[in-house]
Amino acid sequence: MAELAAPGLDFWGILRCPRCGAVFRSTQPLCCEQGHEYEVRDGIPRLVAPAWESRHDPIITATSAAFGHQWNRFGEYGRVGIQDLELHLPSGWTHRAFVGRVLDAGCGMGRYTALAAQLGALAIGMDISNSVDKAGELWPYCEFVQADLVAPPFAPRSFDLVYSFGVLHHLPDPNRGVKACFELVRPGGRLLLWVYGRRRTLLRRVRIVMRRLVARRRSLLAPIAVVTTIGLHFVLLFPRGRRMLPFYRDRDIRQLYLDCFDALSAPTEAYFDANDCRHLLSGLKARASGFEPRSDGSGWILWAVK
Ligand SMILES: C[S@@+](CC[C@H](N)C(=O)[O-])C[C@H]1O[C@@H](n2cnc3c(N)ncnc32)[C@H](O)[C@@H]1O
Ligand SMILES: [Zn+2]
Repeated sequence: MAELAAPGLDFWGILRCPRCGAVFRSTQPLCCEQGHEYEVRDGIPRLVAPAWESRHDPIITATSAAFGHQWNRFGEYGRVGIQDLELHLPSGWTHRAFVGRVLDAGCGMGRYTALAAQLGALAIGMDISNSVDKAGELWPYCEFVQADLVAPPFAPRSFDLVYSFGVLHHLPDPNRGVKACFELVRPGGRLLLWVYGRRRTLLRRVRIVMRRLVARRRSLLAPIAVVTTIGLHFVLLFPRGRRMLPFYRDRDIRQLYLDCFDALSAPTEAYFDANDCRHLLSGLKARASGFEPRSDGSGWILWAVK
């Protein structure tokens, strides 16, 4: 694929100091009008600084470390295509929603940032972890920033679309995350979210037990992920198993491993029901909003128009 330049993006123009909200007066070094300085490494602004982070929280630090490790180590296993992006769309939406300036909030190794760019959007990926290193390496035609979506380093109302896939359920306060993302949407623009749903299946129960084991002893993470991958791979040999796990029907076993690792590694994981979804959207000053189950049964798609 040809490299996509993004001349209309104005990346540096919309960037703001996450500490005080001021514009940046210089990029080398990256320094805001109030004198707060940040590192730019490998072309990626690093706008997370635990030293000044008033909401500094050990869970956030552990989440960032877990995902940074995961994406840098196994990032290549998690390739996705347009049909995966479409799984995240509510009924009535098409991938034409990915136009203009878009933000992938909690982008991991940037697979959905890159897809948005391939669809013609001016895409920026933001992640709290150093997964942005992997993202910058894999998708050099996209812009990435290392930052916390709850203290985002962008001017309010800068984006036509802000989307966040599989992120909010890892936040200590998902409501705060939703509000912070919606702040970034321009009037008439859209917010799009995917979060895990609450389920009473055997798989979910097993997942919760394994997560507890890993929380107690981190060294169990890789061995449990390997055993789970092999078990699920076996389940997928059967038609019933493929119906239970439609997403993995045609996937490589390495993708399954990445997702098993992902399911166990993050310190916090919330599961939402319809009431929780309603609550997540209720605080937004949205022109319209809604939610629906994701078609593969893996949670909820939430959306709002400003
Ligand atoms: C399960 S991964 C999903 C990554 C990506 N959206 C995808 O679908 O490939 C969750 C990501 O959210 C990021 N994340 C968690 N808390 C965050 C926060 N407060 N701000 C920004 N990113 C965050 C993690 O570092 C991780 O890369
Ligand atoms: Zn500042």
